[in-house]
Amino acid sequence: MCPIGVFDSGVGGLSVLRALLQELPHEQFVYVADSGYAPYGERNDDFVLQRSHAIADWLIAQHHIKALVVACNTATAAAIRVLRTTCPELPIIGIEPALKPAAHVSKTGVIGVMATRGTLNSEKFRNLLESLHGRATFVLQPCDGLADAIERADAIETEALCAQYTRAMGQFGSKDGEMDTLVLGCTHYPFSAKVLADQIGPNIPLLEGGLPVARQTRRLLAEQHALLEEMTTNQPLLFYTTGHPDALKEAVQRWLHLETDVASVQMNQ
Ligand code: DGL
Repeated sequence: MCPIGVFDSGVGGLSVLRALLQELPHEQFVYVADSGYAPYGERNDDFVLQRSHAIADWLIAQHHIKALVVACNTATAAAIRVLRTTCPELPIIGIEPALKPAAHVSKTGVIGVMATRGTLNSEKFRNLLESLHGRATFVLQPCDGLADAIERADAIETEALCAQYTRAMGQFGSKDGEMDTLVLGCTHYPFSAKVLADQIGPNIPLLEGGLPVARQTRRLLAEQHALLEEMTTNQPLLFYTTGHPDALKEAVQRWLHLETDVASVQMNQ
């Protein structure tokens, strides 16, 4: 009967929650947006680790979660190993940029990757790249400020940064040497998918990581016989933020098409 905890530096994890709701329609979810401390992507690992710990501890103590989804590429890269060590009983599911699926679908073998600086500089990401050595060429683009612009729902800044970064990456298209696939390696970026498609063309697949995360969550819960087969609560979704509740409320309305209450919460390091 316990809920699944989901967190991100802010509203980005809603792109993962969207997939979780599709895949696990009977579960209860508690979503935490750490918007008071966002963005994570240009912060150091210690900061992201401390925030991840504070949120995981709070979700365990206040909501007795049965699983934790780290719906943030940056936090997964910086913190998931330590979280798993400190909470060995709790299934913890992380997210990584969809490089493997991209290598699968790309025909030109040239793949663009947009992600935060923190993700791209992490050891976890280096290992992922290494594991695909020789399978494709990845054009890596750190996107400073983009998650923050999406977090603030600043459409003008979002469009300008997307244009700046996609231009810096090079040519998209289906000819030899062109990028024919774009990996959205930050959970905020799917919310700029329309802008990106307008800029690079509608035929370039934009790969996000929410669905594989949702499937993995389902698998882990099934293994533990902890999957709900029917709805057992009339409050399937609880939302908390360390930032301004209205910002999360509006993002939930906009991206999940749900009317909801959002509670403010303080989680000091
Ligand atoms: N949404 C996060 C990610 O997937 C981080 C964005 C940020 O806070 O910089 O990387």
